Amino acid sequence: IDSRIARITSAIRVIPDFPKPGILFQDITTLLLDPVAFKDTIDLFVERYKDKDISVVAGVEARGFIFGPPIALAIGAKFVPMRKPNKLPGAVISEEYSLEYGTDKIEMHVGAVQEGERALVIDDLIATGGTLCAAISLLERVGVKVVECACVIELPELKGRERLGDKPLYVLVS
Ligand code: PRP
Ligand code: MG
Repeated sequence: IDSRIARITSAIRVIPDFPKPGILFQDITTLLLDPVAFKDTIDLFVERYKDKDISVVAGVEARGFIFGPPIALAIGAKFVPMRKPNKLPGAVISEEYSLEYGTDKIEMHVGAVQEGERALVIDDLIATGGTLCAAISLLERVGVKVVECACVIELPELKGRERLGDKPLYVLVS
């Protein structure tokens, strides 16, 4: 195992019963407190994506906003925020997705991306995959090719990877 992955794994704090009893919360704020592990995280993504002709890094609010921008800067791509509803001031397109209870929505500014661009979608974690699927839909609706989705953490028992279908998913810690 890559020593960088080992360091990243041990920098992620696991908190039981948050936000609800029975949930083991994967807390990436402790990863951010370790500059070596945080840099290793960004470097691993940059090494993978720097020569993939990606023009857009799309990050999902809130935790995709932490990992997306440093990757975008390093590979020379733009960063596009996908926000929770009613936060973006301009015209938006939105996509609804299902949660354990009820639904949520993410939005992207119209004009942030152009047809034919190549995107990487970034988030901290994939659980059921609903969030990433909504992000992919938003981009594909406007003619952007999603090259890959990337997360720091995957919770494989929630089968998010299956929900993504044939869309490739890259994760550092599973
Ligand atoms: C968490 C996490 C992912 C999403 C994964 O975000 O940061 O974005 O859930 O779950 P899924 O694969 O089942 O869709 P959350 O919506 O809790 O909000 P936050 O990032 O704003 O904290
Ligand atoms: Mg999130």
